[in-house]
Amino acid sequence: MRMIEIIAKKRDGLELSEEEIQYWVTGLTNGEIPDYQSSALLMAIVCKGMTDIETTHLTMAMMHSGDVLDLSSIHGIKVDKHSTGGVGDKTSLVLGPMVAACGAKVAKMSGRGLGHTGGTIDKLEAIPGFSVTLSQSEFISQVNRISLSIVGQTGSLVPADKKLYALRDVTATVPSIALIASSIMSKKLAAGANTILLDVKYGDGAFMHTPEKAEELAKAMIAIGKLSNRDTRAMITDMNQPLGIAIGNALEVKEAIDTLKGHGPADFTELCFQAGTIMLLQANICTDAADARKLLEDSISSKTAFNKFREFVAAQGGDVDCIDHPQKLAQARYVTPLINQKEGYITSIKATQLGISAMKLGAGRATKDDIINPAVGLLVYKKIGDFVKKGDILVDIHHDNELSVEFMQELNSSFVIEDHPGQPIALIAKYCNCLRYCSQYLFCLY
Ligand code: URA
Repeated sequence: MRMIEIIAKKRDGLELSEEEIQYWVTGLTNGEIPDYQSSALLMAIVCKGMTDIETTHLTMAMMHSGDVLDLSSIHGIKVDKHSTGGVGDKTSLVLGPMVAACGAKVAKMSGRGLGHTGGTIDKLEAIPGFSVTLSQSEFISQVNRISLSIVGQTGSLVPADKKLYALRDVTATVPSIALIASSIMSKKLAAGANTILLDVKYGDGAFMHTPEKAEELAKAMIAIGKLSNRDTRAMITDMNQPLGIAIGNALEVKEAIDTLKGHGPADFTELCFQAGTIMLLQANICTDAADARKLLEDSISSKTAFNKFREFVAAQGGDVDCIDHPQKLAQARYVTPLINQKEGYITSIKATQLGISAMKLGAGRATKDDIINPAVGLLVYKKIGDFVKKGDILVDIHHDNELSVEFMQELNSSFVIEDHPGQPIALIAKYCNCLRYCSQYLFCLY
């Protein structure tokens, strides 16, 4: 087999065989296929697409390029959830303890943030002492003991994705349904959970800009999950504005703590309840959505979810005193408000721009090697549809260094303010699953 023929085949819009895909993935993982040939094939895939069968073969080849976790020694159904990435998305910090407090087993591997999107692992590391690297046996025994562990993805899990993602990042080949679906699903399948809930985001701050594109991606991932015998479901959710209020690691941990105590922002709290409902159904803990929702609400009002979070932080070496007294988490030296200059309705918020502004403060990474400052970030108080007066605070900027005029202008340009209210947007556009109790919120995909 020759790589040049495989590239030419895809360039001409033909379907690659399982053997050809396997040959490429093996060669790129062991370094025998040079990056320039992989880059050429990636671009051909972006331009010509892949069939469902090709996408499945690519996912399986990537999944088996490294270790595949065996979680069978964890008793019960292991649930997992994945967000396709967003701004202010601290969902795993709340969902994990909440569903674990309701009896589900959460053995989760998460990633770090890159560019304008944040990562769960960076947020957890804002808790002093918290360790995201456990051995496989520590990870498994913690889930058996307290039902919850979240760790960073090890280097030996899906090494093909590490190489491919780095190449895609610098060759303008990220936005392809086949490549995104195989990248996400190979990691989810290798991480070993029985059920997968996908939170597929659309909008300005997401990879997919429209609900239709997000649904296409969701369908591709559900098809892969089904073929692999995993109960895979998806939600299509809005990322045209940050989720909740906080963007930045310690600020997001504080917001997660508030939410676990029942005082979180309405949009973020609702997303957690709706995602948690699906996860409890997947875990067979409930058979009815209303019962699942009630169980989750009780876990908040009875403080069992908050106590599960404390237990989880303690188990992974984190300082529980910071959870009980969140003001002890890292604090930025300065807090500067962004003051509104124009009266009117907020008709749009550029979530990506807000994510980039937070990254420039030090809350995220422009490149893989950048060091995160856990203390800095933004508190964005306004949402699309809000009426704002001159002098209102739009954002509180938590920063350690001086703010430039350009920074303030960029931040200000994240808000579009007009005389008339724009179109309202729904946080949760659709659920894609195959449940028999479809209501107006639930959408059957297959
Ligand atoms: N997240 C991933 O893990 N991979 C992609 O390709 C896009 C988002």
